[in-house]
Amino acid sequence: MSDKIVIFDTTLRDGEQAPGSSLEIEEKVEIAKQLSKLNVDVIEAGFPVSSKAQFEAVERISGSTDGPIIAALARSIPKDVKKAYEALKNANNYRIHTFAGTSDIHIMGKFSDTKYGINLNEKRETVIKMAADAVTYAKTLTDDVEFSPEDAGRTDINYLCEIIEAVIDAGATVINVPDTTGYTMPLEFGEKILLIKKKVRNIRKAIISVHCHNDLGLAVANSLSAISSGARQVECTINGIGERAGNASLEEIVMSLNVRNDYWDFDTDIVTKEIYNTSKMVSKHTGMIVQANKAIVGDNAFAHESGIHQDGFLKNRETYEIMTPESVGLNKSKIILGRHSGRHGIQSRLSELGYELTNKEMNKVYSKFLELADKKKEIFDDDLRILMGDRNVNKNNSYELDYLHVNNGTNTIPTATVRIKTPDSIEQESATGDGPVAACFKAIKRALKLDYDIKLHDYKVRSITSGKDAFGEVIIRLFINDSLYISKGTSTDTIKASVKAYLDALNQYENDKNSRYLLFIEESVNV
Ligand code: KIV
Ligand code: ZN
Repeated sequence: MSDKIVIFDTTLRDGEQAPGSSLEIEEKVEIAKQLSKLNVDVIEAGFPVSSKAQFEAVERISGSTDGPIIAALARSIPKDVKKAYEALKNANNYRIHTFAGTSDIHIMGKFSDTKYGINLNEKRETVIKMAADAVTYAKTLTDDVEFSPEDAGRTDINYLCEIIEAVIDAGATVINVPDTTGYTMPLEFGEKILLIKKKVRNIRKAIISVHCHNDLGLAVANSLSAISSGARQVECTINGIGERAGNASLEEIVMSLNVRNDYWDFDTDIVTKEIYNTSKMVSKHTGMIVQANKAIVGDNAFAHESGIHQDGFLKNRETYEIMTPESVGLNKSKIILGRHSGRHGIQSRLSELGYELTNKEMNKVYSKFLELADKKKEIFDDDLRILMGDRNVNKNNSYELDYLHVNNGTNTIPTATVRIKTPDSIEQESATGDGPVAACFKAIKRALKLDYDIKLHDYKVRSITSGKDAFGEVIIRLFINDSLYISKGTSTDTIKASVKAYLDALNQYENDKNSRYLLFIEESVNV
């Protein structure tokens, strides 16, 4: 019997900490449901003490996701552990994941106050006590407690073993060894795991987990090396998103174990056919584009360009492919949907893509589908994903675009007329601007009589489906009253996509004035 590797997905916690990632609560819940279909063992849903939005996301996911254990992060501080428990308590199975910085750099930086001790040795003792106390307290709330000595990759090995032993004595059942800064080399990291196994007296009472960052591009290699040495849980994210250069990528670890099962004697419970849909969903909701040559899920991962490769591939697929696209859920033979497609066909394709809709939601999606089918001859999977990502589908927005007319040309002043539906009126205005998009934004502001301060910080446009009638996605970052809002709009027309993105940001602001972009103001927390 091969050993099982526990897959701990931290896309919604560490992945969400990726610069530029933007996830709303509904999107997090949708991703959690998809992770459950992917059959991950643990979903780390967030860091509840860090903001109201994080707390609510963990609470919602706990109450609505079946299957995986739901975990939440907490510093080794009682109020963090309590908040994590409060957010998790409705989950069928939950885990409190508490951590404390253990490298000298972390200890001297995070615990610089003399109340933690006057020198490194005293501070080290305090950190051990805080960690053990946090685990003891968490144990009164659940049996399933994980502890992470943060920056373990750069932590003195003897001290690392000492703190691990103390938290296992306090009841920790999972010991996670994070290479927080992506500093270690694969063989070195593997040796660290062997040393921990050798030196920590009670290590058999806990599962060893690893959590690798990708600062030197070694996160997956380090995770696999740790597995060779005895780690039986890996923490990873979809598409490898996460702080800075990201975390170990789930799909790369899982497919390494799967494709090379002649080399590894380990299994995971991952339903690999759900990998591609999950990757797409995470990319769309976070706004983080997957590079084309990314292993497993990049657009080019199964594309053969050169004549020699194409010839070889056509004669025998295995000449240039070590796994089939179907094994990760890439549907090569696409079902073509179009204006003659019925609700049933669309709903069943959406369900294959991971979207389960109520009848009411389906009615909205279907009318949007028909609108789109009038403009595009063929509707592909990516188009459906965009329809689902269109925030207007799932939410009752305050502002909706009703009409747009733009006048632009080489010798004309760009002019836009917009008509916007608000919950109780229809507002129309025109404005000129330096360009058509600026004219639209000005007209909207005027139509809605917005008196708050709005500054455009960043504007990006990209094509997200193929063909001449491809969808364009506009991602904008706006400061509204000094809070940052990141929003997206998609359309076959770039100006319309820009308007939708702008309205999306305004809707976020209206819907949630205390949004998560006010992150860490209320409680200043650093991870
Ligand atoms: O990278 C890290 O050390 C972390 C811990 C909180 C597990 O994310
Ligand atoms: Zn991390």
